[in-house]
Amino acid sequence: MIELGRIKLAGPLVLAPIAGFTDSPFRKICVSHGCGLTMTELISAEGIVRKNKKTMDLLKFTEEERPFAIQIFGRKPETVAAAAEVVEALSPDLIDINMGCPARKVVGSGNGASLLRDPQLVNRIAEAVVKKTKLPVSAKIRIGWDEASLNYLDVVKALEDAGVSMIIVHGRTRAQQYSGRADWNIIKEIREKSSVPVIGNGDIDSYESAYRMMEFSGCPAVMIGRGAIGNPWIFSGRTPESREIIETVKLHLDLMLDEYGNRGIHMMRKHIVRYIHGTKNAAKARSSIVKAVSREEIITILDELEESE
Ligand SMILES: Cc1cc2nc3c(=O)[nH]c(=O)nc-3n(C[C@H](O)[C@H](O)[C@H](O)COP(=O)(O)O)c2cc1C
Repeated sequence: MIELGRIKLAGPLVLAPIAGFTDSPFRKICVSHGCGLTMTELISAEGIVRKNKKTMDLLKFTEEERPFAIQIFGRKPETVAAAAEVVEALSPDLIDINMGCPARKVVGSGNGASLLRDPQLVNRIAEAVVKKTKLPVSAKIRIGWDEASLNYLDVVKALEDAGVSMIIVHGRTRAQQYSGRADWNIIKEIREKSSVPVIGNGDIDSYESAYRMMEFSGCPAVMIGRGAIGNPWIFSGRTPESREIIETVKLHLDLMLDEYGNRGIHMMRKHIVRYIHGTKNAAKARSSIVKAVSREEIITILDELEESE
C-alpha cells in the first residue's frame, strides 16, 4: 500500500481512464495484474445530477476494483459539486475531476481541457467539490491549452488552493490531442513545485518505461492508459505466454457477458484485437473476430489461434 496523503494506492502503477475501455470488467482484470488504482471514464456531472440511466450505469463498480476512483466532468461548480455528493454515496475511494479531455464535443461545451484556459474557474470547481465531499479529490489535467499557453503552474496553484489531495498530469496540451510526445520534463517540474502528490501520465508503453517515468520525474506513482489495453501484464512486468493471453481474453469475455449480456460480445471485439496483436496469425483471427456474434464463435477462433502458435 502506498499512502499519498489521504489517498491509498495498492501499487505505483495505476490505470488511466479510457472512455469505452476502462469499464468494470477491464478494471477487474487490471487489478488482478497488480494495478494500484482504477478509475471510471469521464462521467457527466449533469447526467449524474439528472440521474440519467446510462450515466448511472457508468458509476457501477465492485469491491474488487478498489482502490477505485470515479471521474466526473462539468463546468458549473454547483453542478459538479452536486454530482460529487451523489457519487460520495456510492463510496468510491477518490473523486477525480476531468480537466483534460480534448474531444471537440467536450471542450465545445466548455468542459474538460477547456477549463485549463480559466484557472479561476478551475479553482472554483475544485473548491466546490472539495467542500461538498469528505472523500479525497483529485484533478486530471493537461499541461495547457496549446504550446502558447503552458499555464500549468497557474492551474496547479488553483487546484492546490482549492484543497485537492492529488494532481494527475498528462504531459500534453489540448492542441496535441494524442500526437507528439508527452513532456516528461514538465511532469517533473510540476512534481517538484507542487505541494500535493503528483501522478505522471503519458506515453508509458511498458513496465520498464513506467519505472523510467517515476525515476525521471520523482512521481510516487504513474498512470498508464493505452499501454494497458490488451496488455494488463504492463502492471506486473511479466511477459505472458500465448496460452495465458488466450486464457485472459476468455476470462475478460465472460466478465463482459456477465456485465452486458450479449452486447458484451460486440464490446469485447476491440479488446480482443489488442490482446492478440503481435501473435502469429493475428491478422486472420482479427477478421473473424470482428464478425463473430456468439461466445462459442469467439472461443473457437481463440482456440484455433492458440493451436497455431
Ligand atoms: C480513447 C481514449 C479515451 C480516453 N478517455 C479518457 C477519459 O475518459 N478521461 C480522462 O481523463 N482521460 C481519458 N483519456 C486520456 C488517458 O487517460 C491518458 O491521459 C492518455 O491516453 C495518455 O496516457 P497514455 O499515453 O498512457 O495513453 C483517453 C484517451 C484515449 C486514447
